[in-house]
Amino acid sequence: MYNIQKIRADFPILSREVYGKPLVYLDNAATTQKPRCVVEAITDEYYSVNANVHRGVHFLSQQATELHEASRETVRKFINAGSTNEIVFTRGTTESINLLASTFGEAIMSPGDEVIVSVMEHHSNIVPWQLLAERKNIKLKVIPMNDRGELLLDEYEKLFTDRTKIVSVVHVSNVLGTVNPIKEMIATAHAHGVPFLVDAAQSIPHMAVDVQDLDADFLVFSGHKVYGPTGVGVLYGKEEWLNKLPPYQGGGEMIQHVSFERTTYNELPFKFEAGTPDYIGTTGLAKALDYVSAIGMEKIAAHEHELTTYAMARLKELSGMRIFGEAEEKGSVISFLVGDIHHFDMGTLLDYCAIQLNGEKAGGKEAVININFTDTKEKVMLMLNNGVLNHRLGSQDKKADLTMEIAKMDFVKLFFGRTDLQTLHKTNKVKTTGDTKAIDIIRSACEPADPNFNIVLP
Ligand SMILES: Cc1ncc(COP(=O)(O)O)c(C=O)c1O
Repeated sequence: MYNIQKIRADFPILSREVYGKPLVYLDNAATTQKPRCVVEAITDEYYSVNANVHRGVHFLSQQATELHEASRETVRKFINAGSTNEIVFTRGTTESINLLASTFGEAIMSPGDEVIVSVMEHHSNIVPWQLLAERKNIKLKVIPMNDRGELLLDEYEKLFTDRTKIVSVVHVSNVLGTVNPIKEMIATAHAHGVPFLVDAAQSIPHMAVDVQDLDADFLVFSGHKVYGPTGVGVLYGKEEWLNKLPPYQGGGEMIQHVSFERTTYNELPFKFEAGTPDYIGTTGLAKALDYVSAIGMEKIAAHEHELTTYAMARLKELSGMRIFGEAEEKGSVISFLVGDIHHFDMGTLLDYCAIQLNGEKAGGKEAVININFTDTKEKVMLMLNNGVLNHRLGSQDKKADLTMEIAKMDFVKLFFGRTDLQTLHKTNKVKTTGDTKAIDIIRSACEPADPNFNIVLP
């Protein structure tokens, strides 16, 4: 049984209010909220175990080391890696990709060699390769996509040459929600003798990922996007590949023996883990993975799919709504624009309604929401009509939200299409992203004159 109320109760932040209204948190693609058990595991370790790992002979150090290595085993099991030697702890997805671009670039690539990425990559999977391109004079090739936000696999195949050394592609797009056919794409790369890096930052929190089934050579993700703490992440690499790569940073746990004449490096995975690792963070991450595993990744995926389908249908009913990314295989990310309302204004407007979404994606042009397993249809509807309808109907009865369907959506249409906002745009008073004055203007435009009426009808 999927007990949504119990799940929501595990996340203390979800019961808080913002601007006096119940929080609707839909910015999960940026970072996720933390269940109580994760925060408690972190606190417990600081209070009762804390000691540096792999260093001391004393009791606490050994206990901390055991916890840290048990966390590595939890990660291994979660992605079904063959060995803990293949699990390298990093600070997150970005650091994992930088680690790989740097070491792979140094050991395997020569000037003129090529990397294939896709047009829908997060900048964390573009810039490290661009830096390498500048350093080593290598070339980036980009897989294009169609209007629905699906990668063109025929074009992908054509990009391979005898200079292609690695493919690095996102599993689930953080903007379009597209779930790429990564297993098939990996098989194509392997047919050309090329290894494949999967950016799993947005897939790990939402679906079961099995590195052996995918036959991924490398796979990266961040703890904070899967209900774990910030500052810890993972680089999975097949042992045969990791053994071929040099260390990334020097010092601490990555050495076996140091002398001024010669230093030898530690075995896997420690070769890539310089300095004191975030051993408390790894405990938090393991707790988070245990937490979602106990619910079941399949159940999480099914719940999120149902809500996303619902939200897509409801959003499409709004006049002036444009949705970006309608791939056949789509995760729970929805990007949209309404009329000529700037995505930043939309983010600000909804923020005022206590709805936290991403209105300011770096380089993006849309408002982006990412539904997750703690959400409910009611919360999705609140996204569309938070406060407005309740106040308008003078009802705090939650059932009123749930029964609000098409007729009531008209109200939302009016809300989104309100003349005062459009006028603000037309008079160019609200134009620039990040303009704090614009925020004030929008807030005051949304400010209810009468608490029973959140909007002024045109
Ligand atoms: C697809 C994807 N890749 C990489 C990243 C970077 O993750 P982090 O900032 O945790 O390193 C993100 C973050 O939004 C992402 O969505």
